[in-house]
Amino acid sequence: MTQPPETPHSRKVLHLPDEAATEALARQLAPLVDGRAGVPPGGRIHLSGDLGAGKTAFTRALLRECGIRGRIKSPSYALLESYKISSLYFYHFDFYRFSDPREWLDAGFRDLLRDDAVVLVEWPERAGELLPPPDLLIALDYAGQGRDAALTAYTARGQTWLNAIIPPPSMQAPPPAGA
Ligand SMILES: Nc1ncnc2c1ncn2[C@@H]1O[C@H](COP(=O)(O)OP(=O)(O)O)[C@@H](O)[C@H]1O
Ligand SMILES: [Mg+2]
Repeated sequence: MTQPPETPHSRKVLHLPDEAATEALARQLAPLVDGRAGVPPGGRIHLSGDLGAGKTAFTRALLRECGIRGRIKSPSYALLESYKISSLYFYHFDFYRFSDPREWLDAGFRDLLRDDAVVLVEWPERAGELLPPPDLLIALDYAGQGRDAALTAYTARGQTWLNAIIPPPSMQAPPPAGA
């Protein structure tokens, strides 16, 4: 996995025993990115992890909680799905099938990485150097029947989000080995 070059601020590791826990974590982040929690809306979240780790599940739950109605498609073919709620833009990228950086530059996708938009990126490592470091990296890993989520803040904004996330006791620590 490619690590963004900036020095991370801090890190939290949570255990997500089931999909409901993934969704609960996403719902905690939603008000932080859409302005309801009082921090300026916008920000960039990178989601890494193998196929089926829960990147899309997390993103769908976050977008739902931010008020997006209707079908939330995985952008694995289209590369990008975008949404708007009042004046806030949401961009959901998936670089799984990304191969040619010119594709990205020609399409002007880079212009979408504004500080006042909410940007969620699956498979950020496949975009290589084209993406700046995120505010928050969420690395999802298979762990028994569930997932571990390592959250790393790379900016002051990401640090603010991380401080505001209060995991329920069920999410607090990875399970003991062999559990
Ligand atoms: N914490 C979790 N524990 C177990 N299963 C989960 C968890 N979070 C999500 N899932 C399940 O794993 C799958 C994740 O799929 P998806 O979100 O499409 O993965 P990705 O986008 O990372 O390829 C879904 O079937 C979902 O129900
Ligand atoms: Mg996906």
